Amino acid sequence: MEIEVGEYKLRPWHIDDVPALTKHANNKRIADNLRDIFPHPYTEKDAREWIQSNHGAERFTDFVIATKSEAIGSIGAHIGPDIHRYSAEVGYWIGESYWNKGVMTSVLKAFSQYAFDKLGMVRLYATVFEWNPASARVLEKAGYSMEGRLRKYVTKNGRIADALLYALVKEDAE
Ligand SMILES: CC(C)(COP(=O)(O)OP(=O)(O)OC[C@H]1O[C@@H](n2cnc3c(N)ncnc32)[C@H](O)[C@@H]1OP(=O)(O)O)[C@@H](O)C(=O)NCCC(=O)NCCS
Repeated sequence: MEIEVGEYKLRPWHIDDVPALTKHANNKRIADNLRDIFPHPYTEKDAREWIQSNHGAERFTDFVIATKSEAIGSIGAHIGPDIHRYSAEVGYWIGESYWNKGVMTSVLKAFSQYAFDKLGMVRLYATVFEWNPASARVLEKAGYSMEGRLRKYVTKNGRIADALLYALVKEDAE
């Protein structure tokens, strides 16, 4: 499964992505905006374990963001269980040397379309830590709406903070 996004491509993870993944992911400015499961420092072992955990997934929910030559980031959807089965949380990051070029906005638009059309989702959402205006802006540019401020929702690096809930429902994306 591959999705073309301009000069970039969303494709499945491959074990050969370990060096590039480690190079781009080993960045505190990225880790500070993600769950603690995304470690800092980020080692080759972490990259290998992540890629292996993705292998053979039932549905293609997690993609590499890649240039022609290497992996530069990641986007994925965590589909909810039970009554939340048509709702998915979207997560993403991209290497710092690619920031502020519009890449993630294009990637998120294409991925959201894929999640509605191919994964059958009706709602996509993301929670953004209060100190991350770049991600909030990406979500807005991709058509997501802010649904609320989740007070004291996250504990990151020993700090308890608010998060902003953004969502896009399928009918609004059409
Ligand atoms: C958030 C992230 C994915 C953005 O990717 P990107 O490819 O740089 O995003 P884009 O270039 O498409 O858009 C970024 C927007 O944020 C804006 N922005 C960047 N820094 C900003 C800041 N400090 N304050 C306000 N806006 C900011 C940019 O100006 C741009 O908006 P514009 O097009 O209106 O000028 C990237 O910075 C990243 O990987 N961060 C670390 C991980 C992360 O935060 N993941 C999301 C967790 S919810």
